[in-house]
Amino acid sequence: IGYVGGEDGPDAIDVLLNGLSQLEYRGYDSAGVGLANASLSVHKAEGELSKLRSVLPTESLRGGHTGIGHTRWSTHGPPSNANAHPHTDEDDRVAVVHNGIVENYQALRDELVDAGVSFESETDTEVIPHLIADSLEAGDDPECAFRRAIDRIEGSYAIAAVVDGVDDLFAARNESPLVVGVGDDGHYLASDVPAFIDHTDRVVYVDDGEFVRLSATDYRITDADGTVLEKPVETVDWDAEDTGKSGYDHYMLKEIHEQPTALRQCLRGRVDELAGEITLTELSELDHDGPIQFVACGTSYHAALHAATVCRERGLHANAYVASEYAADRIPVGPETLVIGVTQSGETADTLRALREANRAGARTIGVTNTVGSSATRVCDDVLYIRAGPEIGVAATKTFASQQIALTLLAGQLNGGLSYDAIEALRSVPDQVQTVLDTSRAKTVAEELVGSDAFLFIGRGLAYPVALEGALKFKEITYEHAEGFAAGELKHGPLALVTDETPVFAVVTGDGETARKTISNIKEVEARNAPVVVVTDGCSEAERYADYVLEIPETDDIGAAVVANVQLQLVSYWVANRMGRSIDKPRNLAKSVTVD
Ligand code: G6P
Repeated sequence: IGYVGGEDGPDAIDVLLNGLSQLEYRGYDSAGVGLANASLSVHKAEGELSKLRSVLPTESLRGGHTGIGHTRWSTHGPPSNANAHPHTDEDDRVAVVHNGIVENYQALRDELVDAGVSFESETDTEVIPHLIADSLEAGDDPECAFRRAIDRIEGSYAIAAVVDGVDDLFAARNESPLVVGVGDDGHYLASDVPAFIDHTDRVVYVDDGEFVRLSATDYRITDADGTVLEKPVETVDWDAEDTGKSGYDHYMLKEIHEQPTALRQCLRGRVDELAGEITLTELSELDHDGPIQFVACGTSYHAALHAATVCRERGLHANAYVASEYAADRIPVGPETLVIGVTQSGETADTLRALREANRAGARTIGVTNTVGSSATRVCDDVLYIRAGPEIGVAATKTFASQQIALTLLAGQLNGGLSYDAIEALRSVPDQVQTVLDTSRAKTVAEELVGSDAFLFIGRGLAYPVALEGALKFKEITYEHAEGFAAGELKHGPLALVTDETPVFAVVTGDGETARKTISNIKEVEARNAPVVVVTDGCSEAERYADYVLEIPETDDIGAAVVANVQLQLVSYWVANRMGRSIDKPRNLAKSVTVD
């Protein structure tokens, strides 16, 4: 959040703290503010916003009318005071808050260190204030210095900066949300409207590649060349209840819709289509040729099954294990084994226990997680971040999709890269997910089928983990009986459950042997009068046997596993919504289970 007000406007410190309390759902690893009063002052604290409030000399900060604030969700560097935003240059002339990832930060950091600059944090963000200070030093005016710094960084960002002795505030956006609030008593900017909705409902949405300059009486939005843009001022109709949910009724639905962005973030800077190369900079050398074991729980276990299958398709010896069974199953593990723990929270006790056991046996361990600084990052030798952003809904949605993609990259890296076609397919997944979100008929299907006796999900190959995940999501949030099966297993027992009151969701993509076999299984349930819902790319004749079709764009089997799952997420959501369930906090469940 940022604010510039006039003498009669509210104190910046109040605007910032109230605004941050509305944004805390975006991250709560640390919080901080930077105020341009008589001199620039920065205050920050690890932990939730309440921690910052308790250490702030609030009264001495009154009277200032320009400032920025931030709540952090870690991407580089664990939660700590030093890594909290705002970040400053060495002389405290500039303070910066940033959401997103500076991809080329290492190169910029090396260059600045060579020039004698010392860094205080492990963040990618800290290069920005140093770059701005460099230009100020060279004689540039503040706006020019800010632009020059932004020109040098690559990646995704919403950035706001204040400069000592300057009343105005500077900001820029690329692929991270940024919105300007136009008030009577001043101007605001934030990642999300609730941050300033108490002050104004008139907003201007900033687009990628645009720069913002705010003063108490004016705001100016310019393009990369400095040309002033005339952008519409819109009035938002915002209910306080919506705070944090961006207008969606539930965090789960919002997070389902955030998947294209989350997946782009996960892929960013990690794939080179032309060279067929994957670069996972976090991981040290990966020339492993022994067995690979994935360990995980719940939804993450389904991502682990996906990963193991992708590895095996590439000739690697890989298996996925439910973490709580890892010890009891007496899985052979030793120094030749690579054990990969998949856990979005990084705190699941069962998964951590399996990883510790693998460590004791001398295996190399990698944690694949969404949470910087979590226990998994400390237990494992290496860490790969899925970069999904905070997920509030207990039922995992965007973290699962990001796990599927991150683990596919990891599997590719373990085996000398991915083909041009495979990388191209991966890169189009975010757009394909968007297409599904824009066109899905899941709500209609949900309305037709709600009230059925039970719900069955089937799939084969990479669609098998999708069937398991479809059923898990369904039971988690609808409390209805739902089961996922390998399609071929239906006839070995579950077929006894099938009636005209048990809809069967079948995931069928492509037109190969796998699709043909699943279609045979569909015919088996169709013959027992079960309503059949097919999730398909239309490549096979599956639709002929379907009562309902949920379409996905055509892609390879890996991409299809991600995209098809989105249709099933939406079906679960709409059935649960129709049944009035507590979607974001289902009964008896917790987001992160730290007991085993
Ligand atoms: C809990 C959650 C599940 C989640 C599982 C593993 O049981 O309710 O949604 O899949 O933990 O969580 P993790 O953080 O390890 O991915």
